[in-house]
Parts: sequence; C-alpha cells; structure tokens
Amino acid sequence: MSAVPDLVVLSGSLASDSKCDRVAEWCAAQCAGKGARVRVFRGVELQFPFFRSAVDVPSCVREYLDVMERADGVVLVSPAYHGAVSGLLKNALDYVNELDDPDHPLLDGRPIGCVALAQGEQGATTTLATLRTIGHALRGWPTPLGVTLSGDHALFDETGSPAREPVRARLHVMLSQVISLSETHARRRAARLRA
Ligand SMILES: Cc1cc2nc3c(=O)[nH]c(=O)nc-3n(C[C@H](O)[C@H](O)[C@H](O)COP(=O)(O)O)c2cc1C
Repeated sequence: MSAVPDLVVLSGSLASDSKCDRVAEWCAAQCAGKGARVRVFRGVELQFPFFRSAVDVPSCVREYLDVMERADGVVLVSPAYHGAVSGLLKNALDYVNELDDPDHPLLDGRPIGCVALAQGEQGATTTLATLRTIGHALRGWPTPLGVTLSGDHALFDETGSPAREPVRARLHVMLSQVISLSETHARRRAARLRA
C-alpha cells in the first residue's frame, strides 16, 4: 500500500538571499515532484524565542511543532557558523523536545537528510557531522548520505538549481533516501491510526 509522506524542510539562515533557503526550496521542489507533501520553513519562519523547558510553548511555535509532529521525514539545511549548526536552527530543533509522545518521542523513526553550506570544506564537514549528531539525539535516522556545499564558485545556476552536477547528484541520492524511508514511516503511521 502506498502512502504519501509528509516532509518538512528547515533552513537555518536569516541572511537575505540565503543560500540555505535556496537549497531548502530546491530540495522541497524535488521532493514534491516525487509525490511527497512538503512544508518548508525558511530561516525567517524559525525566529522563535529561545527555548525554555517547563514553560508553555509560545503560540508562534505551535504550528511549527504540529508540522514537525506529523512529519514522516525531515531535511535540515544549515550554514556553518564557526564550525557548527546555526543557533537559529539549533533553537528550532530544541523545541522538538516538546514532542514527548511516550511511544514516539521527538523525531523517533523519522529519516533526517542533512545539508551543510559553508565557505570552506572544513566548516561544511564539521557542520554536517553536528547535524547528524543532533538528528541521532532526536531519535531520528540521519540518512546514509549527507551533503556539503562549499567554496567560492557560484553555487546555483540560472535556473536556481545547484550549479555543480556532483552536488545535484548527491542531493538527489540523499532526498531519495529520505523519501523512501519516509514512505515506510507514513505507512506505519497510517496503520497506527487505523488500529
Ligand atoms: C557568523 C558566521 C560564521 C561563519 N562560520 C563559518 C565557518 O566556521 N566555516 C565556514 O566555512 N564558513 C563559515 N561561514 C560562512 C557561511 O557558512 C556560508 O557563507 C554559508 O553559505 C551561509 O549560508 P546562507 O547564505 O544561507 O546564510 C560563517 C558565516 C557567518 C555569518
């Protein structure tokens, strides 16, 4: 039985004309083209107050948490900020702590595709590793392939796609891993709802 997966793509940058936002939108378009339902949160939509445990979740965070709770798969796109994930994205992910269903806490069982953008290769690599570590800690399944984009060359072509073919190819592989695992999650979720 097929199930349409719900995917969420988060971008961790507030920069104007953010490269992370552009990659996030491109990933979302690819996933939608493969039949997934996709919600993108650009950096500007993740401007939440700092997470505090044991206080009421601010109303501006509620919709984001509802979407994350329903997600069958997640794609995280972060800039390298001093070798790690941006505070904006980390704060949004800290709120996932509120998803405390005892049977399916946090991002339990959800595939997590990770993309890191940086000026240099080292920053991209350490940021990708941090994204994957956070994904594990949230009980998710970072996909076997993560993707880094770095360097001074133009990252996008005139159509808005990542300019370099090897980068596009890696993104396609990572997204197909997210989609295939998220379809499995969507089927299990549908079966749980029927039971
Ligand atoms: C505060 C700050 C810290 C950064 N730290 C690093 C870094 O440690 N390593 C690196 O390679 N690039 C670093 N960069 C460059 C960004 O990661 C890079 O420009 C990225 O593409 C920005 O994505 P955006 O356009 O979506 O904001 C930093 C940029 C900023 C603004």
